[in-house]
Amino acid sequence: MTTVLTGRLEELKRKMETREARIGIVGMGYVGLPLTLLFSAEGFRVTGFDIEAAKVATLNNGGSYIVRITPESIQQAQKAGFCATTNYADVAEMDAVIICVPTPLNEYHEPDLSYVTGTVESIAPYVKEGQLIVLESTTYPGTTEELVVPRLESGNRRNLKVARNAEDLGIHVAFSPEREDPGNDTVARHDIPKVVGGCGPAASELAAAMYGAIFRKVVPVSSPSVAEMTKLLENIYRCVNIALVNELKQLCMKMDIDIHEVIDAAKTKPFGFQAFYPGPGLGGHCIPIDPFYLSWKAKQFDFHTRFIELAGEVNTAMPYFVLDQIAAGLNEHSKSIKGSKILVLGLAYKRDVDDLRESPSLTILELLRARGAKVAYNDPYFPTVGHGRHYALNMSNTSLDNIGSYDAVVIVTDHTTYNYKEIVDQSKLVIDTRNATKGIISEKILRC
Ligand SMILES: NC(=O)c1ccc[n+]([C@@H]2O[C@H](COP(=O)([O-])OP(=O)(O)OC[C@H]3O[C@@H](n4cnc5c(N)ncnc54)[C@H](O)[C@@H]3O)[C@@H](O)[C@H]2O)c1
Repeated sequence: MTTVLTGRLEELKRKMETREARIGIVGMGYVGLPLTLLFSAEGFRVTGFDIEAAKVATLNNGGSYIVRITPESIQQAQKAGFCATTNYADVAEMDAVIICVPTPLNEYHEPDLSYVTGTVESIAPYVKEGQLIVLESTTYPGTTEELVVPRLESGNRRNLKVARNAEDLGIHVAFSPEREDPGNDTVARHDIPKVVGGCGPAASELAAAMYGAIFRKVVPVSSPSVAEMTKLLENIYRCVNIALVNELKQLCMKMDIDIHEVIDAAKTKPFGFQAFYPGPGLGGHCIPIDPFYLSWKAKQFDFHTRFIELAGEVNTAMPYFVLDQIAAGLNEHSKSIKGSKILVLGLAYKRDVDDLRESPSLTILELLRARGAKVAYNDPYFPTVGHGRHYALNMSNTSLDNIGSYDAVVIVTDHTTYNYKEIVDQSKLVIDTRNATKGIISEKILRC
């Protein structure tokens, strides 16, 4: 990247490159905390901001509340100067602030940007000249310019404006999407290219210098909106392709064709095909939610995003499809869902993660309970499960000791800690929504 920076901004860029810059990360969650550790590992002094005092206390005591992040890694970061705080005044000490707060949907399925706007309003009074502010939360194109910039400009105590030209000092604002894939260790985090779009050339250059210190490749784009849309394209691509394969799975079942065998064969094609796998429905904080940020924004342009709506329809129906399969499996044993003892195996939205957000397991448990089943669950990551916006389960983890006493065992999440051969051997009926029992031959298995 050819430089447009001069004077104090050149100095800030040098601090980014030499790791002397102080980095503030707002939101110590699944995204912000691993990012903190990445910066710390590279020698940056990081301050983590969060509104939850309990999280801040845990981190400052050298502990962790995310399973795949060890207390040792937090303690290591502390040695590099990491500390956490609930005090936004400390923003004034930072050279750069990265915002990683939630972007859920509200009860009307519309973007809930209150965490982003709340954060920006909280940090704005402490923002200083020359500082770099980067939003990483996934959101619709236009958020940085329409929601972040005006709040930073109106809320700061020094009457600063967002820098648009290379020579402006002001506040430097950029958007850079988070591309983490929790539980996927095949690509090292620093090998995932980092897309960056600044509100001006100086913001882009500063953000590229900061991320360039920890990511091997930075991909600058021309504006925050391009960077925001890039993230949504990636997630919509996944959402649509998962819906496609979920629909084809249902057809294949009717045609007595194994969809997994089809996918395995198709993915031998060295170009033009990427494998997606069917399952019990979408989960996690991203794929079920992010596409609807764009559908909502599209309405402002009198545009209907049909692919997103259709994919949403197919994916949302998957837990109901699983319910039908459970009913069919029990029927073969002359049983109904009502009154049956049913164990749901795996609650997390995907394999080997401790994240329950939007998990289809919650819908499946609720549907089974509503149909009169006696439900239980096993998941090593969740000793208990309470209630959320869409569910009120209030259950505790059950051991696998008495698996033979259940009328059906439903594999919803294929954690690698399970011994699927043993589970099949000991169960009366196994409904496998993940192909976890691949290679096990048994009439007790219903794969769906
Ligand atoms: N989890 C993922 O795998 C993933 C992947 C890519 C992108 N994202 C996106 O990253 C963003 C963050 O997601 P996450 O999974 O880390 O969420 P999270 O819920 O795990 O963490 C968010 C953190 O922000 C804190 N917080 C909320 N409001 C705050 C405020 N005003 N000030 C300070 N802290 C505040 C919360 O207490 C929480 O600790 C979202 O936009 C999400 O869509 C997530």
